[in-house]
Amino acid sequence: MVKFIFLFLSFNLFTVSIAGDTMTPTKSIGDGQTLVSSGGTFELGFFSPGDSKNRYLGIYYTPDKIVVWVANRISPLSGSTGVLNLTGDGTLEIVNSTGYIFWSAGTSNAINPVVQLLDSGNLVLLEGTSKTLLWQSFDHPTDTLLPGMKLVRDFRTNLDTYLTSWKSSSDPSPGDYSYKINSNAAPELFLWRGSDLIYRTGPWNGRGFNGIPEMKITNLFRFHLTSNKSEATYSFEILDNSILSRLVLNETGVVQRFVRSKPNLGWDPFWWHPKDPCDEHANCGANGICSTNYSPDCDCLKGFSPKSPQNWRVRDNADGCVRRTALNCSSGDGFFGLQQVKLPDTSNATVHSNVSLEECKDWCLKNCSCSAYAINEWSGCITWTGDLVDIRVFTEGGKDLYLRLASSELGNDYFLRGEFKPVNI
Ligand SMILES: *[C@@H]1O[C@H](CO)[C@@H](O)[C@H](O)[C@H]1NC(C)=O
Ligand SMILES: *[C@@H]1O[C@H](CO)[C@@H](O)[C@H](O)[C@H]1NC(C)=O
Ligand SMILES: *[C@@H]1O[C@H](CO)[C@@H](O)[C@H](O)[C@H]1NC(C)=O
Ligand SMILES: *[C@@H]1O[C@H](CO)[C@@H](O)[C@H](O)[C@H]1NC(C)=O
Ligand SMILES: *[C@@H]1O[C@H](CO)[C@@H](O)[C@H](O)[C@H]1NC(C)=O
Ligand SMILES: *[C@@H]1O[C@H](CO)[C@@H](O)[C@H](O)[C@H]1NC(C)=O
Ligand SMILES: *[C@@H]1O[C@H](CO)[C@@H](O)[C@H](O)[C@H]1NC(C)=O
Ligand SMILES: *[C@@H]1O[C@H](CO)[C@@H](O)[C@H](O)[C@H]1NC(C)=O
Repeated sequence: MVKFIFLFLSFNLFTVSIAGDTMTPTKSIGDGQTLVSSGGTFELGFFSPGDSKNRYLGIYYTPDKIVVWVANRISPLSGSTGVLNLTGDGTLEIVNSTGYIFWSAGTSNAINPVVQLLDSGNLVLLEGTSKTLLWQSFDHPTDTLLPGMKLVRDFRTNLDTYLTSWKSSSDPSPGDYSYKINSNAAPELFLWRGSDLIYRTGPWNGRGFNGIPEMKITNLFRFHLTSNKSEATYSFEILDNSILSRLVLNETGVVQRFVRSKPNLGWDPFWWHPKDPCDEHANCGANGICSTNYSPDCDCLKGFSPKSPQNWRVRDNADGCVRRTALNCSSGDGFFGLQQVKLPDTSNATVHSNVSLEECKDWCLKNCSCSAYAINEWSGCITWTGDLVDIRVFTEGGKDLYLRLASSELGNDYFLRGEFKPVNI
């Protein structure tokens, strides 16, 4: 794989590491001074990204200066008079020499506060004696998710911790893209451009996301998703101590995972999403199905045909597909199974936990508005109503999806693509 070495950050040539990884109220960190984590993995200091002359305080890998966190991303300093200052009562802020505040952690009223840069890349503010955690940079991600850092969606307080892209390589202020936990019964991560959903990972299956088959076949990482009535969280850990890894939402809206083998300096791109046209949300419209194995990528689900054949012919698939034969609940519809797919958008889906495949099918059959069902090992039986959006086919991985069709469509061998293998039901 290609090795990328990023050299776009210009740093002061003479940075001075002040003693170690810890800062107390008696010593502030001026521009040109740094904290270095105990294992030497991360450094905290002022920097100027890309072509910018502005000064930002951030945390970056050593020695390659890949920035993973920025404090004052929306209020840079124009000169090098910035200081990270900790007061005796635990106020942590960036000020210039005339006392103007550029950033503040929002803490106060602490006893014997201590700031420490951990070797995980987390900057923590603790009470010195009790070691109570008062603030940590891991609760305020910018564009990078590090091992141990969590994306959090708290349903009680509406706290939402997510990644936001930089505006450009010279401007770390929040850009158009964000990567967040989607709060529904079958949690997944959504990538947004402003308020447009542009990519979804597919529902969590216990080990990874249904729409990222690559997650299954790695023994370098373990991924964690937790979800209950009060909150949902997502994080990852590294299983192999000889590597470093980070997940970055870059400024062109791609979520990239990078890996570095410790003795080396180059970062390898490990995977990234969206990676092809079928990853683009609803690329084939409602009730369409996408496969990169054929050209064009889009097809209609079995039993459906293009809503606007004229548009579909010129590969404008936005209008999607409609049923060829209306469902008739009373006369008994049937199901057609699709193998190895990315399950449709679950925004309006319902989850029935602890239900067998047979019970899931019965539930769907009994409910006349149910249009499809699937079993996911983590969430259980998922049922959809109405249109099915954002389905793609994988050659490896994916899940079986059972489509409700009018019984007359089932006997019909109408089948646009041979690869959409039916599952026996
Ligand atoms: C930094 O904090 C100390 C107290 O710890 C205070 O005396 C000093 O004025 C602060 N510096 C600035 C620039 O605000
Ligand atoms: C400190 O920042 C303020 C606000 O940007 C600015 O007006 C002031 O001139 C700065 N002081 C110095 C010494 O740069
Ligand atoms: C919800 O999950 C979080 C994270 O796993 C856990 O800390 C919390 O105690 C759980 N809350 C409830 C009410 O189960
Ligand atoms: C974002 O990631 C994609 C995929 O790796 C890459 O092609 C693109 O150049 C990246 N954009 C930037 C600005 O780094
Ligand atoms: C549904 O099927 C029943 C029984 O075959 C039939 O009587 C009824 O007319 C059908 N309804 C529609 C809307 O096709
Ligand atoms: C979910 O329901 C809302 C409201 O009816 C609708 O606007 C949206 O398109 C639906 N989303 C999906 C993926 O079906
Ligand atoms: C799941 O269903 C089985 C059989 O109906 C039951 O014995 C078990 O207690 C259920 N488990 C949960 C967590 O509801
Ligand atoms: C059918 O499913 C919809 C959507 O999940 C639900 O709102 C409705 O209550 C269900 N109807 C019955 C009869 O279970």
